[in-house]
Amino acid sequence: MSYAEETSKRRTFAIISHPDAGKTTLTEKLLLFGGAIQTAGAVKSNKIRKSTSSDFMEIERQRGISVATSVMGFEYNDLKINLLDTPGHKDFAEDTYRTLTAVDSVILVVDCVKGVEEQTEKLMNVCRMRNTPVIVFVNKLDREGKDPFELLDELEMKLNIRVQPLSWPISMGMSFKGVYNLFNKSLRLFRPGGVTVAEDVLAITGLDDPVLDQQLGDYALKLREDASLIEGAYEPFNVERYLDGKLAPVFFGSAINNFGVKELLDTFTRIAPPPLGRPSNVRTVTPDEKNFTGFVFKIHANLDPRHRDRIAFLRICSGRFERNKMFHHVRLDKNIRFNSPASFLGQRKSIIDEAFPGDVIGLYDTGNFKIGDTLTEGENLQFQGIPAFSPEIFKELVNLDPGKSKQLAKGIEQLTDEGVAQLFTQQQGNRRIVGTVGELQFDVIQYRLEHEYNAKCRFMRMDIHKACWFTAEDPKVIEKFCQYRWDRIARDKDGNLVYLAETAWIIKSLQQDFPDIRFHYTSEFKREMQETG
Ligand code: G4P
Repeated sequence: MSYAEETSKRRTFAIISHPDAGKTTLTEKLLLFGGAIQTAGAVKSNKIRKSTSSDFMEIERQRGISVATSVMGFEYNDLKINLLDTPGHKDFAEDTYRTLTAVDSVILVVDCVKGVEEQTEKLMNVCRMRNTPVIVFVNKLDREGKDPFELLDELEMKLNIRVQPLSWPISMGMSFKGVYNLFNKSLRLFRPGGVTVAEDVLAITGLDDPVLDQQLGDYALKLREDASLIEGAYEPFNVERYLDGKLAPVFFGSAINNFGVKELLDTFTRIAPPPLGRPSNVRTVTPDEKNFTGFVFKIHANLDPRHRDRIAFLRICSGRFERNKMFHHVRLDKNIRFNSPASFLGQRKSIIDEAFPGDVIGLYDTGNFKIGDTLTEGENLQFQGIPAFSPEIFKELVNLDPGKSKQLAKGIEQLTDEGVAQLFTQQQGNRRIVGTVGELQFDVIQYRLEHEYNAKCRFMRMDIHKACWFTAEDPKVIEKFCQYRWDRIARDKDGNLVYLAETAWIIKSLQQDFPDIRFHYTSEFKREMQETG
């Protein structure tokens, strides 16, 4: 197969949802369709259950599972589909944000009873930052949920994107009858129990077909009313607007009953984009470029403390990756070869000889990689768009064993390279400040520092609302600001200046006092600045 054919065959995506909406269940059904697993129940949820408070063994076990399910490849409709898993737990949201930089599209699962939830909104904000195409799957139609029109309004309002239903539910809960496919005008009847057989799809001539009345009784009338409302409200589905990230098609179904999943997958394979270009500091690298490039978006440490190796997950952006070929690690300015790169099929991991744009491969690493690192065939370019967002919880790292300060320094350095948390250092007092999006990470860090680096620490909560990166045209303005707020200035791991703001109000008032300073809420400010001129 030619390089162009290999590339155009790939579809790389993630499923995102608020915990419990049905992401794991849907993943499993998709893998069943793709033949990557044979039995239901094979995919373990990698979510850390809400009840788990500081249960390290549980965290470790879950981390183990999430390595296995980080990338799930399967074939369907002659396409090679790479499904990237995202952690369900909100404390690991940063991990999810980074994974979203490595996909080309997203399926968003919403629970029809709960509607759009907090985590869904946050994840969609990240998708909108790079106009990622989104398909929405409204799940759990076998339950009494919100009215579908109300759900569509809620999706539009809370997710700030236009939506368009491509299928329509006929009642829900106890009286759920099935879905009408507005696109190809067919009717799929609901049979609880998880098997969708071809006979369940009824080809009908249109909404006037008497088969509807035979099959649906009184519900046929309601369906006709709903369908005419929808037809009046929407123009024919425009795939370009979906690809631009402006319009999200919506499907209704029930993942646990395997209902509506095939429609979703069939439409996904028809409209989801093949590998897309990725911005770098030099140019947008497109997948038709023959020279290899890729970037690391996730690092996973080995669970066994005797083996310090880690797996770095690399998204290939262009060219062909080959086993044992020398590639250039741009940040370290060093050439490295990989003799056992891994790919993932279902839940099996195997060594591969080659991989193509859109693929995600696992590279065994002994400490060379940091999140965001770029590999090339020699060119000095750095991929962008893997932002660090301001953490929400900040604590000072306190060393409890002065004899082990080297181990502690190395440990925290490596753990933050992995992206477990962000590290800020303050020259005054040599303070190390760890920022995370959730409390759970502090437990993980403390545990791993002790077990993997033999270093003991504790954390002291700090009163910080946000970490804002800041810039100004004139270095004198920066200097003045640093002097004025010296006790609140730190540097991130890349040496960028960060202001550790007490409250949102103080940021506002400082902005008035220092109009030439620009505050940024993600570390991507350099790109933001290029884009805004
Ligand atoms: P998540 O990964 O998004 O967190 O959700 P997950 O798939 O684990 O699903 C959350 C719960 O919702 C599970 O129940 C799952 O069985 C259920 N679920 C998923 N799809 C549907 C659906 O279409 N209809 C209904 N009624 N339920 C659905 P659980 O009791 O939390 O877990 P389990 O014991 O069933 O595994």
